[in-house]
Amino acid sequence: MDGQILRCIRCGREFSDDEILYACPDCENLLEVIIPLADMDPKKLRKAFDSRPIGVWRYRELLPRIRLKAPISMNEGGTPLHLCSRLGGKLGIKNLYIKFDGMNPTGSFKDRGMTVGVSKAVDLKVKSVVCASTGNTSASLAAYSSLAGLKCIVMIPSGMIALGKLSQAMMHGATVFAVKGNFDDALDLVMKSSRELGLYVLNSVNPFRPEGQKTAAFEICDQLGCAPDSLVIPVGNGGNNAAYWKGFSEFKDIGLSKGLPRIYGIQAEGAAPIARAFAKKANKIEPVRNPDTIATAIKIGNPANWLKTMNAIRSSKGTSIAVPDEEIISAQKMVAQLEGLFVEPAAAASIAGLIKLLDAGEIDKREKIVCVATGHGLKDPDAAIKVSKKPIEIEPSMKSLRAALRN
Ligand code: F0G
Repeated sequence: MDGQILRCIRCGREFSDDEILYACPDCENLLEVIIPLADMDPKKLRKAFDSRPIGVWRYRELLPRIRLKAPISMNEGGTPLHLCSRLGGKLGIKNLYIKFDGMNPTGSFKDRGMTVGVSKAVDLKVKSVVCASTGNTSASLAAYSSLAGLKCIVMIPSGMIALGKLSQAMMHGATVFAVKGNFDDALDLVMKSSRELGLYVLNSVNPFRPEGQKTAAFEICDQLGCAPDSLVIPVGNGGNNAAYWKGFSEFKDIGLSKGLPRIYGIQAEGAAPIARAFAKKANKIEPVRNPDTIATAIKIGNPANWLKTMNAIRSSKGTSIAVPDEEIISAQKMVAQLEGLFVEPAAAASIAGLIKLLDAGEIDKREKIVCVATGHGLKDPDAAIKVSKKPIEIEPSMKSLRAALRN
């Protein structure tokens, strides 16, 4: 044992990192991986990191220990931190960046977590894996399971996920169950199937997955040379923002970066239990029964990671707010048409959220701001086509082209 353990986020009970556990048997809260940081030498780590290409496994000393010759990896991470001069200019900000995690191998940030989670699954000698998904998790798990030679079952809310994501899970050969219900119903079934059929769960309740996702925070510190002042990020099931907070905190605690960002968690108005809890200054969420939004990736009414998320956002002195679908669509178009980046609606929620937070004076225009674009726009072509100008039909003649250009 090199000192890594699992620990309950509420009661602090500790477990071996070789146990297959998603929640504390005493208090039923989620677990997190504790990486012992006290003896880490920042200079040695810096040298080791700098000797490797940017990406998830650059930071292997800060990741769960995995006893494989090589991780199950497709070179995930190392995604661009795009300086948004044109969008920033329009919003009156100089230091606006988009961390475009849609540039991962399967087109979303999920790959950061899956390379770690699936590697751990192989290490634990698991043969079958399962997840519930609004789309991206299933696409990523299906791809990484193929690479690892694992049997993969995914459960998606019937008729509610974007076509690109569904096509990925199908093409990678996963067994796809379309559950007659929403994401929350599908996740309930996944947890039952793990208890009764012994399937290994790779939703963000799995403590190893967020460990991979936290590397996006390490990358931002390395790309910017410091932590940003504010990080604006979409929130669905609540795992990713908590993973970022863990990443920023660990880098600072070791002495690899200075400062910590405020985390702003953005939800869609029709699926906003966490934003509502913040608005009411409540300590708990009230689940939303029938969540609804164009941003299907974050169409979640009962986020499993709600406590991790609320702890992360509160500790960072940030907050959570909700944005309506019209503002998500308009932000998606702004990013596409000013910066050339095609992000999916859930990812655009972070930019819609930023605009609202600037208007409210919650974020200062002089700050260094990073918005996280969690998924690629090509994942959801239907959503894009529905809100865009239709192609103009013309004859293959200059006359027809000239006439069309005059209109
Ligand atoms: N953005 C995208 C593109 C997502 O796919 C998700 C979650 C989120 C944001 C929210 O992240 O759940 O960690 O708060 N997608 C999951 C899925 C639920 O099944 O693909 P979160």
